[in-house]
This record gives sequence, structure tokens and C-alpha cells, in this order.
Amino acid sequence: MADKDGLKVAKDYQVNEPFANQGNFQVKGAAALDWGMKHRMSKIFNPRTGKTVMFAFDHGYFMGSTAGLERLDITVPNLMPYVDVLMCTRGALRTCVPANNNCGVALRVTSGSSMLNDDLSHEVVAVDIEEAVRLNADCMAVQTFIGADGQLSSLDNLNRVVNAGMRYGIPTLGVVAVGKDMERTDRFFKLATRIVAEMGVQIVKTYNCEHFDEVVAACPVPIVVAGGKKLPEKEALTLAYDVIRQGAAGVDMGRNIFQSQHPIEMAQAVRKVVHEGFTDKEAYEFYLDSVN
Ligand code: 5RP
Repeated sequence: MADKDGLKVAKDYQVNEPFANQGNFQVKGAAALDWGMKHRMSKIFNPRTGKTVMFAFDHGYFMGSTAGLERLDITVPNLMPYVDVLMCTRGALRTCVPANNNCGVALRVTSGSSMLNDDLSHEVVAVDIEEAVRLNADCMAVQTFIGADGQLSSLDNLNRVVNAGMRYGIPTLGVVAVGKDMERTDRFFKLATRIVAEMGVQIVKTYNCEHFDEVVAACPVPIVVAGGKKLPEKEALTLAYDVIRQGAAGVDMGRNIFQSQHPIEMAQAVRKVVHEGFTDKEAYEFYLDSVN
């Protein structure tokens, strides 16, 4: 084990140098993956833009019924034409999502904590790989708690899911959790995203922070950025624009879409930023024009 006092602070991120092992595939770090995995990754990351708009509505797995998601059966089908990937639990998928759609599926496969617990960092793998195959999942989402009490068990969960995913050709999405006591600095996100990527996941989900371009540069797989708590639409579009400009491969937004006064128009505006090169200002104008 390296002596941590003697470690040098990483600083040479070469943020203007493109990823060197891209090959001819649109997704970072995926050049050496098998065909099935690449095909699933192409369901997630548009082959033309290399990016994704994920719609997260898995909040119920630890928050129960959430404002804006009271009726998954109504809300989700309305939004499906405007997003690339549905991030959800198997319960929501089977009961409320019609199977005749073209969206990718990011299946939440861990559970175990809820808003009633003080410490959310203890989870188990709740969905096995055969179930992910049956549901035709395009990736499996695992919550990881770096620096929290549950770090070891969450990394054990992550590694077991990555191993199963490698056997069956299903990518794993490692979600970097930020608990109430965890810092949201670039130092934390550089540490956590890199640990999760080195465990072998094919996609990392994390949060925006200062020097986000360095977080992206140091992570050898695509980073999808979480929306987080509801912001005014203009600010949420600025968040999307900032992270895409700094190299994110997409966004995974929940509350900033389903709690918007105009969820469909908001999803469309986010798409404009992610896939069509709109600035935040242009996307917000599009949003305003669409709702007025
Ligand atoms: C929890 C998650 C959830 O999918 C995410 O929190 C939902 O999205 P949003 O924060 O944008 O409402 O990854 O860690």
C-alpha cells in the first residue's frame, strides 16, 4: 500500500487532450468491449453525438412517493419520446412503463436505505443478473459510497455487479453518492469517480463541481451528470451546458425534469443542449418559446 503522506497531489490533467484510446467507437473507454456491450452502450450513448439524456425516476427506491412522481404510469410514458434512457427500478419498469418504446434502460439494482435512515450508505444488491437480462437492461446502476461508513460493502456490491455484467455483456453504471456529511469538492469527485471507474464500471454518474473538466479528464469512462435538487429551469439548463462543455457524456436528470412546470418542454430543452450544441441561453429561449 502506498504511503499516503508521500503521495503527490495530481495536477496534470491535460484537459485539452482528447481521450487517447477512443478507437472508432463513440463512447470513451469502450473500445475494447465486446459486441453486446457496445450495442447496449449505443442504446445509451447516441452513435451520432456520443451523448445521452437519461431520465431518472428511481427516487422511490429510497424516498418513496416523490413530488412529481406520484403517478409513474402517467408521467413516464409522457416523457419517453423526449429522453434516451429510463433510469428506474424493476418495480417501476414492469408496472408503469409500456415495453413498446425505444428508450434504453438503466436498471437500479441496489437498495437498502431510505430517508428514514440516518446513514444511507448501506445497501445490498437487490436485482440479480438474470432479472437484468429478462428486463433487457442496457446497464445496471449501483450506488457507491466513497468515504462513508458503507464504502466497503458498496464496493463489494459494485464489484459483484461488474463481474456479473461482464459475464452477460451488460454495462454497469457506478453512481457516486453524496451523503449529507460528504464533501462536494473536485478533490472528492476526482477521488470517487476514479475509484469507481477503476473497479471496472463502463459508466460513472456524478455531480458537477469546480474544475469539472479535470474530473472528466481523469476518468477513463463516460461521466453522466446528476441533476440534483430542483433548480429554476434557466439554472438547470446552465448546469447541463456547463458540464457538457467540460466533457460530460450526458446528464441524468430527475427532479429538474419531472418537477418542472413543463416537463416535456424542459426535457426537449435539455436535449437541445446535450445533442444539438445549444448554449444554455439558446435552450432557455427555446423552453420559453415552447411554453408560451
Ligand atoms: C440517487 C440517484 C437518483 O437517480 C437521482 O438522485 C435522481 O435524479 P435527480 O437528483 O436529478 O432528481 O442517482 O443517487
